[in-house]
Amino acid sequence: MYRVEKLVDHSQAAVEKAVSTLLSALQTESAAVSNDAEYKVFRDRWLARSNGILTQLNDLWLKASPKDAKRIVGQAVNTVRSNVEREVTVECRARLDSGNAQSPLEASRVDVTLPGIRRPLGAEHLVIRTMNDIVSVFRDMGYSVGEGPEVETDYYNFESLNFPPDHPARDTQDTIFIAGQQSRPQRDRLLLRTHTSPVQIRTMEKQAPPVRIVIPGKVHRHDTPDATHSPVFHQVEGLAVDEGITFCDLKGTLDHAMKAFFGPKVRTKFQPSFFPFTEPSAEVYVSCIFCGGKGCRICKQSGWIELLGSGMVDPALYGFVGYDPEKVSGFAFGMGVERFAMLMYGLDDIQQFYLGDVRFLEQFA
Ligand code: PHE
Repeated sequence: MYRVEKLVDHSQAAVEKAVSTLLSALQTESAAVSNDAEYKVFRDRWLARSNGILTQLNDLWLKASPKDAKRIVGQAVNTVRSNVEREVTVECRARLDSGNAQSPLEASRVDVTLPGIRRPLGAEHLVIRTMNDIVSVFRDMGYSVGEGPEVETDYYNFESLNFPPDHPARDTQDTIFIAGQQSRPQRDRLLLRTHTSPVQIRTMEKQAPPVRIVIPGKVHRHDTPDATHSPVFHQVEGLAVDEGITFCDLKGTLDHAMKAFFGPKVRTKFQPSFFPFTEPSAEVYVSCIFCGGKGCRICKQSGWIELLGSGMVDPALYGFVGYDPEKVSGFAFGMGVERFAMLMYGLDDIQQFYLGDVRFLEQFA
């Protein structure tokens, strides 16, 4: 059995000879290993930190050699170390493992009693599902469906919707602006759209009246996240422009839509409001879908829940798109998808939609 001896002769030739004696002992011992127990003994004998052969080399060869031989001996010890480590941890182990491997026939046997691999099916996210549900109510009334860009220009998001530069109504829709555009005219500067209303303008620019369209999409606002706010959320916008459209059409359409969505018992209420791009404007309330209007915690005892913004298209908008305000009129509305979903499914935290927690999501799959 190999034992580490102190080096007597430190010449290059003598050191090389000592190395090759050691390496051939390593090979012989490695080849003799035939099971895991033997492997463990072999590994410890060469690599054990306290008194393995590598450790002994440090003491008996390196530390014990005179100063002017340290370089030669040091190199020798390094060579030995990498050879020993590779032989023990890789070569010998691999030889042992391949010897233990099952025969190919054995390995390909199928155990039919094992459970199969489950591949969970994906499902529509609740926000997308609600968005589609809202859209289909309007599709059934003959509306078409459109989309627009999430990165918008100041012109479409604000100016063409009657928010002039510095108009205070812009403050309520503060958003994220794309950097580095100070050299562009303000109307061309890009931002993340704060509502889906810019697609009203884009639609009217592209097509002549009559228009009946709903526009689902993602919007951004400078809002701090809490149980009812999120800086990213979704809206469905609606626009109808034709000859002779009146506020009655707006009321009738939205009343029908809310009944289609929440059930025939739901009542609607329109309350004066302000948006720069509609005149007159109205907030739409539905009778509380939890208490039926009697008053409860969710409707704060009022019996009503505020659900969407709406109004008659401000005639000033027609000037931006080349429609004749003397001939056409129309209405528009916009609703928050998450808010609808929360009411519909009785949820109390908007953040749940975005956490990606499958335990939450799969309840609605
Ligand atoms: N864009 C408005 C908002 O995001 C909602 C709205 C749309 C109001 C259409 C009136 C008409 O608050």
